[in-house]
Amino acid sequence: MAKARVLVTRRWPEEVERQLAERFEVTFREGDAPLGQAGLSAAMGEYDVLCPTVSDRIDADVIAAGDRVKLIANYGVGFDHIDIAAAKAKRIAVTNTPGVLTDATADLAMTLLLMAARRAGQGERELRAGRWRGWRPTHLIGSSLKDKVLGLVGFGRIGIATARRAHHGFGMKIAYYGRREALPDVTRELDAQFYPELNDLLAESDFVSLHVPGGAETQGLIGAEALATMKPGSYLINTARGGVIDHAALAETLRSGHLAGAGLDVYPAEPQVPEELLDLENVVLLPHLGSATRETRIAMGERALANVVAWAEGRPLPDRVA
Ligand code: DGY
Repeated sequence: MAKARVLVTRRWPEEVERQLAERFEVTFREGDAPLGQAGLSAAMGEYDVLCPTVSDRIDADVIAAGDRVKLIANYGVGFDHIDIAAAKAKRIAVTNTPGVLTDATADLAMTLLLMAARRAGQGERELRAGRWRGWRPTHLIGSSLKDKVLGLVGFGRIGIATARRAHHGFGMKIAYYGRREALPDVTRELDAQFYPELNDLLAESDFVSLHVPGGAETQGLIGAEALATMKPGSYLINTARGGVIDHAALAETLRSGHLAGAGLDVYPAEPQVPEELLDLENVVLLPHLGSATRETRIAMGERALANVVAWAEGRPLPDRVA
């Protein structure tokens, strides 16, 4: 039987590319440049399986462009860049890679939180520019974490993993907003307080960390009103999706000093970074590094591969989202 034709849209770690190539007829993108809408559309008629990433927009037009693709095996957990309704309507299965990037992303949320609280980016910029005038008691004073309230917006796998690090590692108090209360053993372990209303959580938290999925439901969730509700002098951390925040409103809130700082890893139209943030000292800006550890990127590839193999063998897909 002919091997299934698979397109991998961006380079994966070598060891997983090799495993994929042993089983399927695979096209890898030599230059690692994004395919763009035209390339993705053409691929719909040429391949059986598409393996995209968060940097590919698989919208309804792309999905309508060809009839060959039967599986979209996303390399990543978030799938708001894929039009799930359009895929379902064409009976195209969609899978993701949950679980394997929880720890790496929670580590990065803590990296941002610490960098924002301790003004690490600002300090490094000052030093590299030759502007450091030596140690002094009032230099670049930040905030401690112990006994501060960390409010998590979204309390799924990554939210809980972040809370564990913050509570057990840094002595922070945990509060969370989500669709429902967490399981009692998690609540007990973290002494976590549930807030059924987002605004109440925002008003009570010294640090707010976002862990909700992207997409229409959470678009602009943290806009001007929510930002004004946040505690004066608090911090906002985002490792979820850029669209969750209104960045013009965030820049204004940071400029006014109402928020002490922010740490961002994701943006609405990556790789563009909202202009208005670039010259603000009190925001840490990282280039979507949440899952960027060697171990995690290999595990993500293996998870995507497991879905392609299951599909090829006609077995149930381990991580089916559509
Ligand atoms: C994901 O998997 O959705 C991440 O944003 C990419 O690391």
